[in-house]
Amino acid sequence: MDEKDLGADLSKVLIPEDVLQAKVRELAAQIDADYAGRDLLLVGVLKGAVMVMADLARALHTPASMDWMAVSSYGSGTKSSGVVRILKDLDTDILDRHVLIVEDIIDSGLTLSWLISNLRSRGPASLEICALLRKPEAVRTEIDCRYLGFDIPNEFVVGYGLDYGEKYRNLPFVGTLAPHVYGGTAD
Ligand code: XMP
Ligand code: MG
Repeated sequence: MDEKDLGADLSKVLIPEDVLQAKVRELAAQIDADYAGRDLLLVGVLKGAVMVMADLARALHTPASMDWMAVSSYGSGTKSSGVVRILKDLDTDILDRHVLIVEDIIDSGLTLSWLISNLRSRGPASLEICALLRKPEAVRTEIDCRYLGFDIPNEFVVGYGLDYGEKYRNLPFVGTLAPHVYGGTAD
């Protein structure tokens, strides 16, 4: 599906592909400046961060290793369950490593707060966050996101890794899901 052919499920394009790509390059430049000469480990949070991780990693000049974690905080719907579980842990020992968590979206911040304390307990040399999107709820949390793509409205978004019931992840842009698709408002 391209941006001109949204179909009935998406109400609008929130962030077009070219704007996303320009932002990812900008974030990569900031990360390059900060991590020059350091041994960087990117930790992508599956599955939503796959697209931003792949594009960010390719835009970096800094040599970086990549590892992945899968945690669950949401079911197949649009609301947080409040329960975080590790579905797939890192393969890498992060003791004394410079770790940068790469996330698709910060909503309530529940997932990331939990992930931060979990990873911090493993003794990394440094631990920072890069998130592509942030929703308004996140201001209530203490999460210090050093590299942020976009602050977005409190709407359910899909595309560029983000899904609704495992659909729409492969859209190259971020779009807003039409409320009729999930039967309500996204608050
Ligand atoms: P919390 O509330 O823990 O949520 O910060 C973070 C995780 O929730 C998912 N999430 C979304 N997924 N569209 C999505 O496709 C959205 O609008 C959305 N809001 C939250 C996502 O998995 C994220 O990592
Ligand atoms: Mg996610």
